[in-house]
Amino acid sequence: MSKPARSIETRHHEERDAFFAGLRRMSRRSFLRLAGLSAGLAMAKRLVPPHSFQLVEVAGAAETGKLPFTFAYISDTHLYPARLNDRFVRAILKAVDDVNSLDPPPDFVLFGGDLAQLGQREELDLGHEILKGVKVPVRMMVGEHDWFFDMGEHWRALFGPEQYSFDYKGVHFVTLMSVQEKDFWTERGMTPMQRMQTVAGLDNGLQSRFEVGAAGREWLTKDLEKVDKKTPVVVFSHSPLYKYYRPWNFWTEDADDVQAILRPFEHVTVLHGHTHQLLTNRIDNIYFHGMLSTAWPWPYAPEGLPKLTIQQNRADPFDQFDGCGDGSVGLTEEGLANVLYNLWDRNPVTVRASYLASSGAKDAPARTKLPSY
Ligand SMILES: [Fe+2]
Ligand SMILES: [Fe+2]
Repeated sequence: MSKPARSIETRHHEERDAFFAGLRRMSRRSFLRLAGLSAGLAMAKRLVPPHSFQLVEVAGAAETGKLPFTFAYISDTHLYPARLNDRFVRAILKAVDDVNSLDPPPDFVLFGGDLAQLGQREELDLGHEILKGVKVPVRMMVGEHDWFFDMGEHWRALFGPEQYSFDYKGVHFVTLMSVQEKDFWTERGMTPMQRMQTVAGLDNGLQSRFEVGAAGREWLTKDLEKVDKKTPVVVFSHSPLYKYYRPWNFWTEDADDVQAILRPFEHVTVLHGHTHQLLTNRIDNIYFHGMLSTAWPWPYAPEGLPKLTIQQNRADPFDQFDGCGDGSVGLTEEGLANVLYNLWDRNPVTVRASYLASSGAKDAPARTKLPSY
């Protein structure tokens, strides 16, 4: 008599045990197996073949060493220690598998901040190990969830300075630390964990609003002094660098001052994390794109939504991947960004530079008729 088939529950538990065993002895080889296990979960519902997760702008980049080229992003993974929440671990593994599957590969991957949930060493270490599985260079950005437990000490030890710039194929890239806050904790005698949890709870009235801060703005001004005004500038920022919705800290308090520093440049694109949703804005010469989170989608704020935003509709709460995702950014020959939202379990959406350049008159992304939030 043949052996009875194992039940779906038994198989689920076996797979879960293998997943945790693999996490305990994280190595490159076990990582690849783990990524496979995670990807399998989503593939069953995949609506579009993986090859559609790419943009066309890469042609010619290799020959000239200049624009156009593509980079990918992974953002807002919010890792807890794996034993507390394997769901978010599976999501980042899926994102790493996505960016590693891109053909042709992106030139690099931007990590958009909020690697950890509560800035714990164990959370940051886990993210650090997992991101080693990305096959191309990773450019790191810090989020408030990484920072306010030890004020960035462990993050810096793992990833280096939180604010830096680099030139690449004709584009000047700047990574800003845009989640500074005025000291609300010393006077109240808060512990590091109380400080971290206060910042993590975005809608409490205790904390101050995010800002780049005077020192950060001075650094930015100095950094851009040497850059020609015609050179395309791409800014990586965790908070949006404009004023969206203050009560939730979807907001940068000194956004007006930061924008003034960026205004003299012909083309500026800001890629930001933090808001966990498809978000599009333009203020004069500055084009803003929010990045998707791998962990969860935030609802849209009740007011202040930039009018160029084509909203993604409400996520299915019973589908862990719905409304989440990763993405890639194709930089055109002019240094403008076409941003592809690789929404898991949904069709991808591309927000083209021409849509922003025409203030919404041309190339609008497809709009869903389903309800948003
Ligand atoms: Fe986040
Ligand atoms: Fe954040």
